[in-house]
Amino acid sequence: MQGFDLQIKILTIGDSSVGKTCLLHRYTSHSFSTSSIPTVGIDFKIMNITVEGKRIKMQCWDTAGQERYRNITANYYRNAQGIMLVYDITSRKSFEAIDNWVEQIQVHAGESVNKILIGNKIDMEDERKISTKEGTELSARYGIDFFETSARDGKNVDEAFYAIAKSVSDRVLAINNKNERKSLLLNNSDSTKGTSASCC
Ligand code: GTP
Repeated sequence: MQGFDLQIKILTIGDSSVGKTCLLHRYTSHSFSTSSIPTVGIDFKIMNITVEGKRIKMQCWDTAGQERYRNITANYYRNAQGIMLVYDITSRKSFEAIDNWVEQIQVHAGESVNKILIGNKIDMEDERKISTKEGTELSARYGIDFFETSARDGKNVDEAFYAIAKSVSDRVLAINNKNERKSLLLNNSDSTKGTSASCC
């Protein structure tokens, strides 16, 4: 592959207004805008990231949280290798919706997709409704990593994207290595067969 070792697709999902677009904007452009408008359908950005020496081209797909776009966005789950489930720490409703979003993943995404839980807007500590403990417990229930972030001040944003990129690349590279070993073994056994056929 030219210029990179691996290409991966990451999707952000979660209720409207939890900060999915702002998180992506913070990660890709290192900036924040309070006048972010709701995403229409789906949008994407590309980031290059190096994980343990491997150059990864990461396509980050940002889905609209609004109900009316559900059918459109569900089509994008299938090709995603990593999904960031985002809630807003100041909104219990967005936190409780995470179970429904996980159900959507089970219906529409591949079985092996890597997931990560994000509690965003930690700069709004005074309005916090979801404790760190609750977030940690939910992530433990699903057996996934958990980060609390702020798209506004950038806290933990790079770390969260790095974590999902790493878990996806570890899984995909392990599969690629296994397939390479398999085809090497097959090639070797073919050439052995060829030798014995020609000699007898
Ligand atoms: P949809 O596109 O409708 O799904 O929404 P979204 O999840 O992409 O939310 P968006 O990024 O558009 O942010 C919604 C609102 O929350 C905007 O007014 C942002 O400025 C604000 N916001 C996003 N992230 C943060 C954050 O970390 N801290 C604070 N204080 N506000 C945030």
